[in-house]
Amino acid sequence: MELDIEKIRQDFLRELDKAASAADFEQLKVAYLGKKGRVTELFKDLKNVEAQAKKAAGQQINTLKEKVESLIAEGAEKSRQAEERRLVEEAEAYDFTRPAAYEQGSLHPITVVQREVEAVFASMGFTIEDYVEITDEYHCFEALNIPKHHPARDMQDTYFLDNGQVLKTHTSAAQNAIMRKYGAPLRAVFPGRCFRNEATDACHENTFFQMEGIMIDTDISISNLIYFMKTMLSEVFHQEVEVRLRPGFFPFVEPGFELDIKCLICGGDGCPTCKQSGWLELCPCGMIHTKVLEYGGIDPEKYTGFAFGLGLTRLAMMKYGIKDIRVLNSGNLKAMSQFTVR
Ligand code: PHE
Repeated sequence: MELDIEKIRQDFLRELDKAASAADFEQLKVAYLGKKGRVTELFKDLKNVEAQAKKAAGQQINTLKEKVESLIAEGAEKSRQAEERRLVEEAEAYDFTRPAAYEQGSLHPITVVQREVEAVFASMGFTIEDYVEITDEYHCFEALNIPKHHPARDMQDTYFLDNGQVLKTHTSAAQNAIMRKYGAPLRAVFPGRCFRNEATDACHENTFFQMEGIMIDTDISISNLIYFMKTMLSEVFHQEVEVRLRPGFFPFVEPGFELDIKCLICGGDGCPTCKQSGWLELCPCGMIHTKVLEYGGIDPEKYTGFAFGLGLTRLAMMKYGIKDIRVLNSGNLKAMSQFTVR
């Protein structure tokens, strides 16, 4: 029997010429050197070769096998290097400053309103303070003149942690720490997330945002409070806002008020949003109680001050006409994109 060594060699060289990728070389390897590869088969056929030609044929097949092996290895290595160069070039050519192809996100309505209010107060000389979300009963209640077992605690259904700490129920919880940090005179606003164990519905959430503000100095009066609130609200709503005060009870202010704004939707004539009253309740406030000043290390004989607790969530709902408070914490991008502000 004559072996077709030369033909296989020619076929291999032709196919090698066409191979480019790592997969091509792998395929070649299987086709020629695999268990049923053409070179492997040659060795099997060797037994049929006449005795005197066997040795020479064996040597030829061995030479071919070595050549096939080395050419495949060489080709595979070259293809690997080319692929590596291609990837590097691709990475270098990538423009990381290119605008994203997907839809851009936007600021949350509460963030937008918070920043606006902060900017207004900053322009009036207030510092903007941060405060923790987990605090203790002293800061959340006692330092605010709400002793243990005082019925006022019932107004704020509190989440207690196993270690006795509480999730802050209002931003007023920061008053004491900020008074102690700066002393008087003092102007500060401090936004924050608050938590109350509320049954949720369109108007109630267990997690909401407030912005507290305090101003302490000699001769601070209710007129100062009204002035600052009116200025801030007119800026946020981009129109003159009318305000009024009604009495309100909070143990940490005396006197205490509920500040209402004239309904922006009906202009005071009465509509469903303001429940036909012409006014919207927006911001509890008052003159800081002398005991709270004392707990904060400030001399109530010398200084007076006002405090307010603006409902940021409420404000965002009013500004953007959001009817269901639960949308704000839903993380529902489709719902939130209605209020997109970039
Ligand atoms: N912290 C009060 C509340 O959340 C609001 C408030 C703040 C009242 C400041 C008066 C002065 O209910």
